[in-house]
Amino acid sequence: MNIIVTDTSDQAFRYAASMIADRIRSFPTTVLGLATGRTMESIYRLLVQQHDGGALDFSGTTSFNLDEYVGLGAADPNSYRHYMREHLFAHVNMSAERAHVPDGVAADLAAECARYEAAIRASGGIDLQLLGIGETGHIGFNEPPSAFDSRTRVVDLDEVTRRQNSAMFSGDPERVPERALTMGVGTILEARHLLLVAVGEGKAAIINEALNGPISENVSATAIKLHDNVTVILDKAAARSR
Ligand code: F6R
Repeated sequence: MNIIVTDTSDQAFRYAASMIADRIRSFPTTVLGLATGRTMESIYRLLVQQHDGGALDFSGTTSFNLDEYVGLGAADPNSYRHYMREHLFAHVNMSAERAHVPDGVAADLAAECARYEAAIRASGGIDLQLLGIGETGHIGFNEPPSAFDSRTRVVDLDEVTRRQNSAMFSGDPERVPERALTMGVGTILEARHLLLVAVGEGKAAIINEALNGPISENVSATAIKLHDNVTVILDKAAARSR
């Protein structure tokens, strides 16, 4: 595992964005695994800037997002499909057909999960999977406990996560959907390279548990220790208790 600790969060975002951009420049048909959340916003802003400056061409790339809230469609400003459009898809030259997000309003959610897994496989698999980490130690929305061989499925969101994400829902955890579709831990572990980014003091305790604690299905992020090609980018606040 390659752990990079930067002085500032901005440096962490720049490091992550340049790793993603370098990968796309070297392999224009890269299959990206994408995440949402506050951490990713700055990374996407930097990628959009590179694209605007003519230095980054997304036209050959394919992407698969990690997760989506059940019940929120593309038009809902809190859906992850909407987030991705706002922060990345609308601003770069990615093919809309190849920018995949699980469909949280599919009539048959189990079928949607199976379709999503099949689409990832049909694309040849994910080359570079971007990951954040939640307070529960989740990657994607793999709340504790999540089996390390779990696949894309419907999950119940932990109360901690609903509180963590409530800012987008007028600060009311009760308004955060109770369920989500998420790639499984097993799905994530099949990506060829994992890139986990965490910044800020608020992430220090869970980063310490994820990187230094025992490998356990009760802390999904510990699964990355089973993967042989992982980069973790932290600012020094998130790395504090390492
Ligand atoms: C979202 C996702 C989550 C977030 C995590 C951290 O697609 O996969 O695992 O990465 O909850 O979220 P932020 O960055 O908002 O702290």
